Amino acid sequence: MSSAATAGQPAAPPGTAAVELRGITKRFPGVVANSDVEIVVRAGTVHAIVGENGAGKSTLMKILYGMQKPDEGSIAVEGRPVTFHSPADAIGAGIGMVHQHFMLADNLTVLENVVLGAEPGTFGRLDTRAAGRRIQEISDAYGLGVQPDRLVEELGVGDRQRVEILKVLYRGARILILDEPTAVLVPQEVDELFANLRELKSEGITVLFISHKLDEVLAVADEITVIRRGTTVATVDSGEVTARRLAELMVGGELPSPETRESTVRDQVVLAVEGLTVHSPDGRTVLDDVTLGIHAGEVLGIAGVEGNGQAELVDAIMGLRPAAAGRVVLAGTDLTALDTRKRREAGIGFIPEDRHRQGLLLEASLWENRILGHQTRPPNVSGVWINRDGARADTERIVREYDVRTPGIDVLASALSGGNQQKLIVGREMSGDPVLLLAAHPTRGVDVGAQAAIWDALRTARAEGLAVLLISADLDELIGLSDTIQVILRGRLVAGADPRSVTPEELGSAMTGAGLAAEPGPGEPDEPDLPGSPGPGLTGTGTTGTGSAAADPTAGPGEGEA
Ligand SMILES: Nc1ncnc2c1ncn2[C@@H]1O[C@H](COP(=O)(O)OP(=O)(O)O)[C@@H](O)[C@H]1O
Ligand SMILES: [Mg+2]
Repeated sequence: MSSAATAGQPAAPPGTAAVELRGITKRFPGVVANSDVEIVVRAGTVHAIVGENGAGKSTLMKILYGMQKPDEGSIAVEGRPVTFHSPADAIGAGIGMVHQHFMLADNLTVLENVVLGAEPGTFGRLDTRAAGRRIQEISDAYGLGVQPDRLVEELGVGDRQRVEILKVLYRGARILILDEPTAVLVPQEVDELFANLRELKSEGITVLFISHKLDEVLAVADEITVIRRGTTVATVDSGEVTARRLAELMVGGELPSPETRESTVRDQVVLAVEGLTVHSPDGRTVLDDVTLGIHAGEVLGIAGVEGNGQAELVDAIMGLRPAAAGRVVLAGTDLTALDTRKRREAGIGFIPEDRHRQGLLLEASLWENRILGHQTRPPNVSGVWINRDGARADTERIVREYDVRTPGIDVLASALSGGNQQKLIVGREMSGDPVLLLAAHPTRGVDVGAQAAIWDALRTARAEGLAVLLISADLDELIGLSDTIQVILRGRLVAGADPRSVTPEELGSAMTGAGLAAEPGPGEPDEPDLPGSPGPGLTGTGTTGTGSAAADPTAGPGEGEA
């Protein structure tokens, strides 16, 4: 493969400075977005820029891309001082930017999108065949797997992003800016993107990768620059820094921790789930005979690789999916036959996995969102009428107590950052004194500050006796917040873990079924396995674990109830 695939000049030799930002300062009315920023990006590397929401990352990238003019400071690209008046200038210097919100036209093909606005100047009209060849060449050279003739509207998010990247390379970019590219991706797509970035790097492209997620920058970056309140505080080698240290640099001081310390678990069982079984619409058993209990003041964490039944467990408790068998009992009351609204009214708060699809109406105001899911209860109603003033006043309270950063409660939910949207949801779901909180990935995708606020809210509520079912892919969070941990695998609870002694590594291997008796997969001979040896801090669960009670996972619907 050859890096000559790009139209422009060859990239700068590896190790030399591809970009130097010196003393960059940018003021907006009332805020200094960038202040004396110093960054040197070496050619042929992935250089991450991390910082909390509002730290000034996007502003800096817009300056580098010619979208905004710095008030002070200088930029050099591949050793040459530059002054950009527009993105066209930046593109001319070999810099391309992929925006967080894609700017592709749905009803056009990949080819048309890529070429749009970049037709070779010498041609009176577009030479489709040459453009198609060129796109294929670039796609092959960088392993992007882009098909020029596909309609963009048929593409998934990951593919659209690759088209955006290709579009930028097509214009000759040697330096690629990606501003929070993973915010729109699911974990598997993130892995694919990272593979693409490594490929680009190996072909000599320099990548500026913006994120506030530390595991991501550690996974993909060679060097990491931390920005805090608009200014660069450190540049570190990703091999020589921990996530914890990075987070400390980001927030500038002591780090919030999910640690809960002393137990607040009480005798009273708040949630009892008994033999809960759920079938998927196509008849597979996705939740298989799950039994668990959560006491007042207890956080029960569910560890599992995504897609092993945790979403179905939450949905079945919430009444969003029917149970094929089993019961859900809240504080002694059987909820199994009740609908979601009645279950909420019985005292369940719900932080959904996907805040955009289930948690918020993005095109409604904050105070209208306060009512969502709570439209039958005070302060949102008096009698049968929606109580606008009550809802508004209570939204003000949530904004205050949960530190939701917003200009007011009349703005649309879509105007808030992800972290602030999530704080609003947590505040709403904690309202009305729930006895049980179902929290699915409560801090996913939020910045460190919002994460600390959400952890605080959970800890306070736990101390006051709230029972919490916590689903989290962040194992440090799960271990730190939980009083008890159960591992879910293929719809069953297969092991327990003691959060005081278990390590993320042990939990990780239990989640994949390692360290536990392997279960026969579909099609494999159903012979008895060797007894599993749970690692330290892990215990097989008697009822649903590795023994004879483990039903044939290939069992179809109905058999379990026979
Ligand atoms: N065009 C603008 N006008 C006024 N303020 C802005 C503008 N763009 C960004 N800011 C402010 O500058 C600061 C940095 O924002 P931004 O660069 O978007 O941060 P980040 O990308 O790190 O989240 C924020 O306080 C933001 O409100
Ligand atoms: Mg930004």
